[in-house]
Amino acid sequence: MATSPSARPLRVLTGITPSGTPHLGNYVGSIRHSVRQSVAPGVESFFFLADYHALIKVQEPALIQRSTLEIAASWLACGLDPERVTFYRQSDIVEIPELTWFLTCVTGKGVLNRAHAYKAQLDKNVAKGEDPDADVTAGLFMYPVLMGADILMFNAHKVPVGRDQVQHIEMARDMAQRFNHQYGEHFTLPEAEIDDAVATLPGLDGRKMSKSYGNTIPMFAPRAQLQKQIASIVTDSRAPGEPKDTEGSALFQIYQAFASADETEALRKAYAEGIAWGDAKQMLFERIDLEVAPLRARYEALMNDPAEIERVLLAGAEKARQLSRPFMAELRHAVGLRNLAAGRDKGAARKAAKVAKPSFKQYRERDDGLFYFKLLDAQGATLLQSRGFASPQEAGRAIAALQQQRAEALAALAGQLEPADADALRAATEALEALAEAAAAGTAS
Ligand code: TRP
Repeated sequence: MATSPSARPLRVLTGITPSGTPHLGNYVGSIRHSVRQSVAPGVESFFFLADYHALIKVQEPALIQRSTLEIAASWLACGLDPERVTFYRQSDIVEIPELTWFLTCVTGKGVLNRAHAYKAQLDKNVAKGEDPDADVTAGLFMYPVLMGADILMFNAHKVPVGRDQVQHIEMARDMAQRFNHQYGEHFTLPEAEIDDAVATLPGLDGRKMSKSYGNTIPMFAPRAQLQKQIASIVTDSRAPGEPKDTEGSALFQIYQAFASADETEALRKAYAEGIAWGDAKQMLFERIDLEVAPLRARYEALMNDPAEIERVLLAGAEKARQLSRPFMAELRHAVGLRNLAAGRDKGAARKAAKVAKPSFKQYRERDDGLFYFKLLDAQGATLLQSRGFASPQEAGRAIAALQQQRAEALAALAGQLEPADADALRAATEALEALAEAAAAGTAS
């Protein structure tokens, strides 16, 4: 069962689709803010590269690989600390596609029919007089379910997103509700978090900076290229000496996203006093470069060492799977994908409660004087072995956590248990589920 939000730190989860080269719009609109937020006390951050999602848009293998590397390097260069956060690649979490299927089976097709991205493609086709489903893959249709699995797998409370993604978070919430209703409380209901303080950056042509408009400034372009790109930002034709409007000036808005309030005021004044566009562009270039140059140096070092990035991502995946593996075992049990020898429904469990069932055994070790416990299966074989606790109360609290929070507690207590492999964890999770069911059956009767 998922624990209540108050029982664990606020969990924030962010996914980035690796389908292109990161640009300044991504930096200002997401990366910079998320990295800052990830070090806030009391927050547990999950960052991942949504490479399964990338397959929906990009069918160019080399581009997927390249973009995954670039985006991972960008986040690390911007200060994401993989020791503090959980930073991983979606496709390394083998439980995600499995959960996607579970959620698929509780999601109404009509709900997916209304998803914006899919509908936009349909409307486009209809407008062109084509078959509504032309160029629509089932992947595009299923996009929100895969995203739901990303979010629900880690029981995230908050998902910071742009407005265009809010509908997807609501769908994930809906899936969680339906699943919980059908199978018991397993999922936390996620909420979208839209930060209006975070700027959307205009691009070179003044429209929102976006890959689809081809108006982006790559985040880690070398200095000379950055300068050239900034020189190509559209301005009006006012001559040096003529006062200029800050309103609607892409150059001004981009400057504002990087500068302090004082610096921004100074540029506003310079506009009023008729600064030449060339000089304003030089100011913008210097200001951006000031912030980006140290990041660029780290980015280049990382890009030269892809093996290190691969290592970081695999370590992150292992950390994430400490949660997803036992949680998936819990969910498999919940839906009825069970060990046939152990599987019983609630009615049977009531009878079984009086017969043999798994049990906890607490004891004190004579050699070290510490307090231990074991989880035994119905036949008395050891499923879990704790490490030593200083007091019987501490051991008791760990047992209570396992009884109440099962898979979640198994992950949280990993440091206080002897290491167990995936099969052992799965068996332990099933035993904890069976115990909880027997307890529920016991109190119900
Ligand atoms: N769909 C998101 C985007 O394109 C990326 C994404 C995939 C995501 N899975 C997620 C974002 C889960 C937040 C949570 O921006």
